Amino acid sequence: MPESPIRKLVPYAETAKKNGVKVYHLNIGQPDIKTPKIALDAVRNANIEVLEYSHSAGFESYRRKLAKYYRAFQLPVEAEDIIITTGGSEALLFAMGSILDDGDEIIIPEPFYANYNGFSISSGAKIVPVTAKFEDDFALPPVESFESLITPKTKAILICNPGNPTGYLYSEEEIRKLAQLVKKHDLFLIADEVYREFAYDGHQHHSILTQTDLTDHAIVIDSVSKRYSMCGARIGCIVSKNKAFMATAMKFAQARLSPPTFAQIASEAALDTPQSYFDEVQAEYVQRRNTLVSALQQIEGVKVATPKGAFYCIAQLPVDDAEDFSKWLLETFQYDGETVMLAPAAGFYSTPGMGKNEVRLAYVLEQQDLLKSVEILKEALKFYNK
Ligand SMILES: Cc1ncc(COP(=O)(O)O)c(C=O)c1O
Repeated sequence: MPESPIRKLVPYAETAKKNGVKVYHLNIGQPDIKTPKIALDAVRNANIEVLEYSHSAGFESYRRKLAKYYRAFQLPVEAEDIIITTGGSEALLFAMGSILDDGDEIIIPEPFYANYNGFSISSGAKIVPVTAKFEDDFALPPVESFESLITPKTKAILICNPGNPTGYLYSEEEIRKLAQLVKKHDLFLIADEVYREFAYDGHQHHSILTQTDLTDHAIVIDSVSKRYSMCGARIGCIVSKNKAFMATAMKFAQARLSPPTFAQIASEAALDTPQSYFDEVQAEYVQRRNTLVSALQQIEGVKVATPKGAFYCIAQLPVDDAEDFSKWLLETFQYDGETVMLAPAAGFYSTPGMGKNEVRLAYVLEQQDLLKSVEILKEALKFYNK
């Protein structure tokens, strides 16, 4: 199993903290936004005498209500098209396990969410990357570059929309092109849509489920982690109308018995979260993004790919090796007793050598802290490049 590029610097951060240094975490997508009270109250008020297993596909009541949530986005989803999982992570594991055999290939635009590596390896499959360009803000590479990589072993194309780590939001046209391609070659299209609600500047999110002719090809990965700031609940789901695929995914679901009961209670209740919660959260993230991106752009030699969704951006730094720099920030540097933790972006690429001078930054901190972090980064770069 590969190491997580996001977590591998953790021991250095722990040492820095033990030495009394304050560390600003720009490295991890753990939002500081409050979980909706309605979800937490549902757990507090649950009167449970036996904490039982649930159905392997998750509570039926939850799946019905969740189907309604999708239908509110005009997505044609019924309760039987959903399997509740232990986070989007398990949904990815089940999806890949269900469609990939040893030696199969899955095409993914890079940079991509690094845990796709671990999930593909667990399924014995190989990731075939298509490089998205920093200069294009990581837009979808031309479909011809996907097509040229398709072999008899290719089973699926996987996208993340909006993207972690890129913040890119695919247009309707890009989704349509991918849909045509997977139909033509009879592949699955897996879309990780865990950041669906995080689409900014009036841009709309286009789910692959809007592609009505993709019924047998589309698999959506979803999660409550970011939507309701409920990362610790560990609830996600798989959505697909392909019955054979769902029957196979159910075997994985049955093997692990059931998703967690209390967390399903919280997630079901979270579906009643008022729109005003999302409006506030969106407004907050837009401000944070604007603050972070414009502050970064003022540092000499730093370039940022403008994000339109999720809460990440990729920045190019004026250093040769962003991983060495990130380690140095934690091990050696401090500015008024403080430093920052970044996620070196090379680990989000599959092609060796790509992203060496890039880092991913998550804007999950308050604006003041973001500004402080960028000030620290600016001073650090001056010192590092002396
Ligand atoms: C793109 C993406 N997919 C899936 C996940 C997994 O989320 P969880 O297992 O918490 O639902 C994450 C978590 O950060 C993510 O960023």
